[in-house]
This record gives sequence, structure tokens and C-alpha cells, in this order.
Amino acid sequence: SAIQTKPPLTLRLCEPRGFCAGVDRAIQIVVLALKRYGAPVYVRHEIVHNKYVVDGLRQMGAVFVRELDAIPDDGQPVVFSAHGVPKTVPAEAERREMLYLDATCPLVSKVHKQAMRHMRLGRTVLLVGHRGHPEVVGTMGQLPEGTVVLIETEEDVAAFEPADPAALGFVTQTTLSVDDTAGIIAALQAKFPEMQAPASESICYATTNRQDAVKASAPGTDLFFIVGAPNSSNSRRLVEVAEKAGSKRGLLLQGPADVPLDDLMPGHVIGMSAGASAPEVLTDAILDALRERFDLRIELVQTAIENENFPVMRALRDVSLTKE
Ligand code: F3S
Repeated sequence: SAIQTKPPLTLRLCEPRGFCAGVDRAIQIVVLALKRYGAPVYVRHEIVHNKYVVDGLRQMGAVFVRELDAIPDDGQPVVFSAHGVPKTVPAEAERREMLYLDATCPLVSKVHKQAMRHMRLGRTVLLVGHRGHPEVVGTMGQLPEGTVVLIETEEDVAAFEPADPAALGFVTQTTLSVDDTAGIIAALQAKFPEMQAPASESICYATTNRQDAVKASAPGTDLFFIVGAPNSSNSRRLVEVAEKAGSKRGLLLQGPADVPLDDLMPGHVIGMSAGASAPEVLTDAILDALRERFDLRIELVQTAIENENFPVMRALRDVSLTKE
């Protein structure tokens, strides 16, 4: 019998990809809280936007809730998600004397502080972001209700008529498209030359690095796979970035079952990255699925080296040593 040779497929694999330091820390907080306090550990909202991660933590004893009022007063801790929470949430937890662990990414907390600083200096705060995203809800909720102005598009910039155009400051969501956001901010600065920027960039290092690597590898690709969930903002932006940078088609994959094997032709060049909330096991599983059908030739496209590491809060730091 003839040896079956597999058709060749070139895959440009982006580096950095997948988990960022904020996601890694948030997951560690839930895992360590389970070790320290036992199940259940309540988690307000999806800890990070990935079903695989959420299901895994649920099996370990995490209980995901939308709001604190779904949590009984049983003395078990509640973890707030990496996206950040409005100030009313820790306030409510304190009122109920709940034990809470805040897994808000430090880079989201930094944006919260920048928004508060604008307000302290008498500025109307503009937030560039996507309505309804938990991070946007959290950032708007740092200031009194109704005071933050959400800007989603350049049309919103055109329509916005502030009482005092000389007293404006902006911040952005951490996971936006770097290029689209630059356009919106340029429109804001053209219309309101006195508007103040935050002290440093709000779009985070992980978002920027993942978009850069996709941009570098997308030109000429027949398909570009982004491992990530449909509700993950940074993953969806990566699909857009791939297409804008010259891939014929970007596609979000939640796992190997989503790989469109029949669309892949011998000799195709495809690209692949993963959103900041997508675990590497999913990327590996997708690579395995491709290897079954193709002679996969992987070209690594590395555009940055990441060394960021955000430690968990002190209350959990010794858990892994003392309880095994
Ligand atoms: Fe933080 Fe950026 Fe990740 S804000 S949670 S490091 S995508």
C-alpha cells in the first residue's frame, strides 16, 4: 500500500500570542482562592472571556454569578473579574461584609486612576471604548453616574458638544484596535485641541504586541485564525487587524472543531494568533487538528518579547506553599 503524503500547508504563528499577564493573574487568583478557602469561590462575571477557562474553573468549584445579589452570605469569597468593576461593587461587598478578592488587571486599574485624575482636575472625562463591555462599565463606574462620555466612533466625536471644550480629558479601553483608536483620538484632538491625554497609553502592552505580530504576518495569507471567544474584545480586534493588514479572511476559532478544514487548500499560507484570554492548550489542539490533515510548516513570526508578570495579592501569595 502506498504511503500517503499529506499536502503542504504553511502556518505563520504569531509570538507573542495568548495569555497576557492580567489574565494569568486573574486565573491564578481563582485557583489559589479555591485552595485557600475551599469551594465554592464565587466569581462575579466571567473571570476572563474564555469558555474553556471558565468551564475549567467551574469544575474546580468556582461559581460564576452576574451580580453580588446572587451570592448567599455563606462566608465564602467572591472574586471580581480582570475587566474591573464599578465602584458600587466593592462598596456593596463591604456593606455585606463579604470577603472579596479583586482580580482587576493592574493596567485596567491604571486607566481607572487616570479617569479619576481627569475628574479631579475639573475635566469632563471621555472614554473611548465599546458600549456594554465589562471593562467600559467598570471604568465608567469609577466616576459618578452619567459623568463619563462614551465615544465609540468618529461619528460620536462629530456629534459631541461639550459645555466646556477647554476642560476635557480622555482615556481608552485597554483592548481596542491601536489603529482605529488613533483615528478617533486624532478626530478628538482636531476638534478639541485643548483636550488632555492620559499620563500614559491606555491600550495595554499585550493588546499592542498581539496586534503588531498579526500585522506583520497577515499580508498575503489566505486565512488568518485567531483563537478566542466571540465576547473577547481583544480577540475580535485581532481578526479585524488581520484582514486590514492584508489577510484574505480572518476567522475566530474557539477550538479545533471550528477549523474550516475544507477551506484549506494545499499550498495555502495561513496565519495564527490567540487573544489574551485564550489558553495555549486550545492553540495546540488546533495545530494538532491541522497536522492530521496537512504537512504543517510552521514559521514563527515574533515581534516582541514579553516579560510582564503581575503578582497576586499578598493574601494569596503563600497559599501554593502551605497547602498542596
Ligand atoms: Fe490587562 Fe491588557 Fe490583559 S489590560 S488583562 S494585560 S489584555
